[in-house]
Amino acid sequence: MTGYVYTIAGGKGGVGKTTTAINVAVSLQDAGHDVVVVDADLGMANLGAMLDVDHEPSLHQVLAGKAAVSDAIIEGPGGITVVPGERNLEAFADADPAKLRKVVKALSTAYEIVLIDTGAGLSHETTVPLGLADGVLLVTTADEVAIGDTIKTAQLAERIDGDVVGAVLTRADDDTNVSEVADKLDMEMLAVVPEDQDATRDEPLIINGPDSYAAEAYRRLASTLEEIYEANTEGGVTPEQEFEPSATTDTDEESPEESESSDGEDDDEDDEEGVFGLFN
Ligand SMILES: Nc1ncnc2c1ncn2[C@@H]1O[C@H](COP(=O)(O)OP(=O)(O)OP(=O)(O)O)[C@@H](O)[C@H]1O
Ligand SMILES: [Mg+2]
Repeated sequence: MTGYVYTIAGGKGGVGKTTTAINVAVSLQDAGHDVVVVDADLGMANLGAMLDVDHEPSLHQVLAGKAAVSDAIIEGPGGITVVPGERNLEAFADADPAKLRKVVKALSTAYEIVLIDTGAGLSHETTVPLGLADGVLLVTTADEVAIGDTIKTAQLAERIDGDVVGAVLTRADDDTNVSEVADKLDMEMLAVVPEDQDATRDEPLIINGPDSYAAEAYRRLASTLEEIYEANTEGGVTPEQEFEPSATTDTDEESPEESESSDGEDDDEDDEEGVFGLFN
């Protein structure tokens, strides 16, 4: 059995998707699970920058068919594994979001839990991760537009058979009416994360501000996601293979020829399904 894939989505920009991905990842790793976080925000990749890790080859190079995923992983804080992207426009243009399916499939043979961070909006690059998730976690603030975008994202996920496990309300303050937001969303509210500018300045806040209310909320969210993972995998999975993440930032170029292995190969049978293949 392969690992469990959570896609973290939400629609609106800046609501806390990446912050959620990072802190849930560190909490789950703390709880004893092997976790990898993938930066599928291909247009505005910032997971690596938020964690202060940088790596070559990047996810973009993997999605361009130029490297294997096993070469694109790096160890992040708290022992999590990270697959960072890169921020230049050429890399974005060359990266094929449809290849994400194979990348995630390969990662799920080596990690118990794969977390996919996505970008804002409902582009092709966010639709693919919604379709390949075992569970979709939606992130929203109490803002009307964010709630509307979250509902729309949930509807799209359902259309393509993505199973929405629930929502996280972030940046909540004293004026936030949590039950009103829950009613509007009409989905399970798994956590409420308070606004905390101090704690979120230096990610992961689970490590840098462990006593904050925001950290506590993320730990609780992670334990709910752990329960869902265990319930859906009959007590959890044992990875079939091991990937060795680089322990430090590595900017050496790797030649594609060195990246033979079974994980990044370019047999694009999925891609031949055309537009429908992208959404499964
Ligand atoms: N609970 C919180 N309290 C205060 N600030 C927060 C909180 N959560 C996130 N932030 C801040 O909000 C900003 C956006 O967060 P983040 O990058 O996680 O959002 P995002 O949804 O991933 O954005 P994008 O759509 O641009 O990828 C960051 O500066 C982050 O530090
Ligand atoms: Mg983000």
